[in-house]
Amino acid sequence: MSKTIIVSNRLPVKIYEDDGGFNIVTSEGGLATGLGSVYRSGDNVWLGWPGIEVTDEAQQEQVKQKLAEKSLVPVFLSADEISGYYEGFSNEILWPIFHYYASTYSNYKQSNWEYYSAVNKKFMAAVMQIAEPGDTIWIHDYQLLLLPGLIRAEQPDVSIGFFLHIPFPSFEMFRLIPWRNELIEGMLGADLVGFHTFDDASHFITAATRLLPYNSTSNVITVDDRPVVVESFPMGIDDEKYAALTTTDRVKQEAEHLKETFKDKKLILCIDRLDYSKGILQRLQAFEMLLEAHPEYREKVVLHMIVVPSRDNVPQYKELKENIDRKVGDINARHRTIEWSPINYFYRAFPIETLSALYHTADICLVTPMRDGMNLVSKEYVASRTQETGVLILSEMAGASKELIDAIIVNPSNINSMAKAMVKALSMPVFEQRRRMKLMRQVVSKFNIKHWVRIFMERIREVKQMQQSMRSR
Ligand code: F6P
Repeated sequence: MSKTIIVSNRLPVKIYEDDGGFNIVTSEGGLATGLGSVYRSGDNVWLGWPGIEVTDEAQQEQVKQKLAEKSLVPVFLSADEISGYYEGFSNEILWPIFHYYASTYSNYKQSNWEYYSAVNKKFMAAVMQIAEPGDTIWIHDYQLLLLPGLIRAEQPDVSIGFFLHIPFPSFEMFRLIPWRNELIEGMLGADLVGFHTFDDASHFITAATRLLPYNSTSNVITVDDRPVVVESFPMGIDDEKYAALTTTDRVKQEAEHLKETFKDKKLILCIDRLDYSKGILQRLQAFEMLLEAHPEYREKVVLHMIVVPSRDNVPQYKELKENIDRKVGDINARHRTIEWSPINYFYRAFPIETLSALYHTADICLVTPMRDGMNLVSKEYVASRTQETGVLILSEMAGASKELIDAIIVNPSNINSMAKAMVKALSMPVFEQRRRMKLMRQVVSKFNIKHWVRIFMERIREVKQMQQSMRSR
């Protein structure tokens, strides 16, 4: 019986040490939910880094056994590997370049590349211990760009799908990377290479065919007689879960409390991981402009801003945190009154029930990344608006803007237009809110996470069949 092996940098769990043992909590993340039905069935597994450093062999064995009960296989990484492969190469080279932050943030250290290659090989060895001919391997994201090629070299006939969760940059950006050819060769080890948007897919085809001696016809690149299909698969969310959450007692109670607290005010919500690509500072400037240009909104509007800590060992993230703290402090200090604080700023993660209550209550959701592969927060907001009102302000630089066209779409570099979008949202008539929200809810529900997983898996099978029939001709 053939099986499916999911591979990603992180396993979809949080592990923590407790009373000398290890406890495992399954993640609420979109990918974890979407792929749950895949990796938990039959002999299928999910392979990845457990997120904590475990050096002792006996402890590693303990973690391994705990994870095996959940069909998960750990790849343990040392502190040096985390520093070179994850922080250094993935997040100080690939992340900034892929999000159009050129040389300013990219640290092309040779040792980072060496760690990246070595850890990708470590993942390959872990996959090889469980992969058998006929299996399907689905690899996720920018931390593992070399993995498809490494597996292909070991097992030429295996089916490999690769999906990139972040944008793929235009050729002029991508070509800056010293190891660009190796990265493309790695990705082309897959049979199917998937992206969130058509633009990402076409950027990849351009980079592959300009850098390497391969030809393409439409969306198929031929690599040594092996066709590699490149397509877009916009990722969805578990819309039913977000709708159902709003009907639970806990969420209802939290939502009531929020309504009471903000009863004579409009609530603008933003939720992001701490990241310069999320445009948090630009958004704060726009909010400040709103307060200054429209004094009628003073004491009438609150920006509820949740920033979830992330990658805090990478220098740019630390610096960004300081800048956000300063900017929020400055705006609040200059505009607050005894009864009102313009920005409620939280630097921590919250349980999904609290987020659901916020999504369900907020009059406006402000999602304005400078660049984002998809952005699932925008879809979570829409899915939580079971009352069908509310306004989404969405950056045209987020993949989601290609689908949620009934949001107010903004250019996040244009501070003035973002402030105007807030005014438009604050004064939008209810019938117009409903018209837009209904259309967006249809999109989020039709193209949900189950649909995404199904079409990607079906496409890998089709591509394999196409390759086999070409070979037998
Ligand atoms: O958006 C890309 C991504 O890798 C997601 O898959 C992940 O949830 C997020 O960035 C945070 O990544 P990490 O904390 O693993 O660096």
